[in-house]
Amino acid sequence: MAGLAIIILAAGKGTRMHSTLPKVLHKLAGMPMLAHVLASAKALAPSRLLTVIGPEMAEVGALAHQCGAELIVQSQQLGTGDAVRQAIQALAAHKGPVLILYGDTPLITPATLRQLLAPLEGTAKLAVYGMRVRPPSAYGRLICSPQGQLTAIIEAVEANASQAALDLVNGGLMAFDGPAIIPLLEQLRPSPVKGEYYLTDLAALAHLAGFGTAVVEGEVEEALGVNSRAELAVAEAIMQLRLRQQAMAAGVTLLDPASIYFSADTAYEADVTLHPHVVLGPGVMLERGVEILPFSHLEGVKVGAGARIGPFARLRPGTIIGENCHIGNFVELKHAELEAGVKANHLSYLGDVHIGARTNIGAGTIICNYDGYYKHHSEIGAGVFIGSNSALVAPVHIGDGAVVAAGSVVGQDVPAGGLFLARPPAEVKLQAGRRYHERKQQQKDTLSKTGKT
Ligand code: UD1
Ligand code: MG
Repeated sequence: MAGLAIIILAAGKGTRMHSTLPKVLHKLAGMPMLAHVLASAKALAPSRLLTVIGPEMAEVGALAHQCGAELIVQSQQLGTGDAVRQAIQALAAHKGPVLILYGDTPLITPATLRQLLAPLEGTAKLAVYGMRVRPPSAYGRLICSPQGQLTAIIEAVEANASQAALDLVNGGLMAFDGPAIIPLLEQLRPSPVKGEYYLTDLAALAHLAGFGTAVVEGEVEEALGVNSRAELAVAEAIMQLRLRQQAMAAGVTLLDPASIYFSADTAYEADVTLHPHVVLGPGVMLERGVEILPFSHLEGVKVGAGARIGPFARLRPGTIIGENCHIGNFVELKHAELEAGVKANHLSYLGDVHIGARTNIGAGTIICNYDGYYKHHSEIGAGVFIGSNSALVAPVHIGDGAVVAAGSVVGQDVPAGGLFLARPPAEVKLQAGRRYHERKQQQKDTLSKTGKT
């Protein structure tokens, strides 16, 4: 939106989280809260996007910068009003609307942000997002005139009994007309109770100055403020509900939606089927027709069309699975690239490897990719058969069509079409098994007669 400036406040310490991690870096659906807010803000194509951070918040700054925001450092956390004042200095002679978002309000959607800006097209110079919350807990209370004008926002700690009982509360999103409202920031005074400059005091200042002020009322799900771990869990639940609904609307079958965990960036095509208790960490892409069976955990992986994964599979970052592959129970893949039709159906670890089309990996195959100091890459060709319980000591190259016999420790390359067989000599002694049983049984019987079992 041309001429729109968006300021995201993220300098607060978030003491109620009891964490060494800054509050806005706590994650929802695998992505920091601040990244969610930045994504919604960017959807409005603002001409300026600023994030206010604290002085010792290099990580927060790096994230905001990476998402294309300008950084403003608020040297002391003197309140939301002070934070906005710092940012406004960087917006010299700004003529357009200003939208203020809080980094701890991660569930807002671009549609809601547009709704909040709409009253500025009419007579209002300032609009806030209001929501009905019972009990209204720590949210600021919205005081409105009978005509529906917002006359003040009273913070919960400063509300008298009748104000505290109001359930129309401040969602923390504010839009205002720059030229009209920016000069009022000078009039903010520290709260007598907390000593902070409250952004929310702008509402009363705008009203007293004779400007139109509006409340855009909406769902609490949009503007839930996250100040504690309990609120983080509530926000996560709402986010997961949204992601599940989006997936189903796009043609993904969820057998038990409540038990399936998505990341904000999970990508999929139609006709994917997800069975109960599947966790999709960040960076997952599922192509058409993929089926993920129960209790599988995927992260940083692309799964090709028609592949079947699990149950109990673990796919780790850097993995690319070709079309129609079968990855079965207790198989772990890390940094593994599998061409179409590869099967690894049981109990394997395949790390740092490229495997050609249609190769069959027997049960219990382990790629020993780490020598205690370095990781090594292995190449397994197409149409290879790896027998069960084989250890492939990386780096190793197994040519197309080769066979590795069950129980092998492969520490050298196998040429295309070759057979690798490494087993200690074996012998079968006739009747020795029967004699063993007889001897043991006799021992046991003797001991039980003498009472020494
Ligand atoms: C704020 C609102 C409250 C509203 C609630 C909605 C004020 C005074 N109160 O309360 O009316 O109902 O949000 O969730 O605004 N921040 C800074 N610098 C500071 C202080 C805070 O950047 O000096 C940032 C924080 O990082 C946070 C946001 O501003 O992202 C809001 O601060 P927070 O302390 O969470 O305010 P609330 O008590 O939740
Ligand atoms: Mg808050």
